[in-house]
Amino acid sequence: MTDLPADSARADGPAPVTVQVPAKINLALLVGPARPDGFHELATVFHSVSLTDTLTAHPVAGAEITLDVAGISADQLGAEADNLAVRAARMLSHRHGQGRGAHLHLTKGIPVAGGMAGGSADAAAALWACARLWGLDLGTEDLVELGAELGSDVPFTVLSGTAIGAGRGEHLTPLSLPGTLEWVLVTSTHGLSTPQVFAQFDQMHPPGSVGEPSVPREVVEALATGDPQQLAPTLRNDLAAAALHLRPDLAEVLTAGEQAGALRGIVSGSGPTCVFLAPDAARADRIADTLRTRFAAPPLDRDAGSGPRVAQVLRASGPAQVRISHG
Ligand code: C5P
Repeated sequence: MTDLPADSARADGPAPVTVQVPAKINLALLVGPARPDGFHELATVFHSVSLTDTLTAHPVAGAEITLDVAGISADQLGAEADNLAVRAARMLSHRHGQGRGAHLHLTKGIPVAGGMAGGSADAAAALWACARLWGLDLGTEDLVELGAELGSDVPFTVLSGTAIGAGRGEHLTPLSLPGTLEWVLVTSTHGLSTPQVFAQFDQMHPPGSVGEPSVPREVVEALATGDPQQLAPTLRNDLAAAALHLRPDLAEVLTAGEQAGALRGIVSGSGPTCVFLAPDAARADRIADTLRTRFAAPPLDRDAGSGPRVAQVLRASGPAQVRISHG
């Protein structure tokens, strides 16, 4: 249940709006040189998977935007004012909502600092929920544009599905994908900082050593078939080496997933979540079971604490979509 401030619910107000926003993984992530603004030029294929954050926007009488958080790693989130969901709702209220307020109740399912755009998903959820709660005449394109001001991955999490991303990730071209891809996700007990992973990438790639990135044609062609066997060898993440440098234990996770029958394992975005593409749903379930057994208890011949810092082994499928419900 939500912890609504007792005096803030408005009996005659609009019904609350609940939005589920899926996590993203990058099927391809090609990183170009650092730009003068500090961001890197990217060429990526975003893909939404069925692991979601859920946000409900409740009407309030005043102009304040407030937040309470439940779910996994809720205690790892920083101050309310810095939260991307709050910043997104405030921005929308000032620009289009005539200063209206809302109480946001957020349930986290996406790991914090996991390379799966959890914070961006919360911003996207707040934009959708508050736009509907306040009855604003704004469509997907308007919210995508607002999202770009909040973070590089926010526009895609507003959209969901599968899409090519260019620029710093905010210029999107949706792709249609026949069928469903089956994934196993392995999350970590400790997150990775995205700026730190990009900084490590820069150390490994001196200025002048990387060119302008573009999404390889093979990925787009393989996606158009919807065939995981064709897609697997085309998966690519230029940030993987940097993430593995900072978290060498992830190499064991990647090997274990492929040994368990995954077609391919890759680091998701800036990591440390590792994602595994399976041939089908039944085999994805078996891979997940194998990995759960493997990482539930470290082998006796290994020092306690020296193995991979696995938090959860999860099943997901993609592409997933943003879902909105009223009431
Ligand atoms: O846009 P967002 O706030 O998600 O980015 C977080 C950080 O990740 C940036 O401050 C930057 O250090 C790094 N980043 C980057 N190039 C991108 C996207 C993110 O260097 N295209």
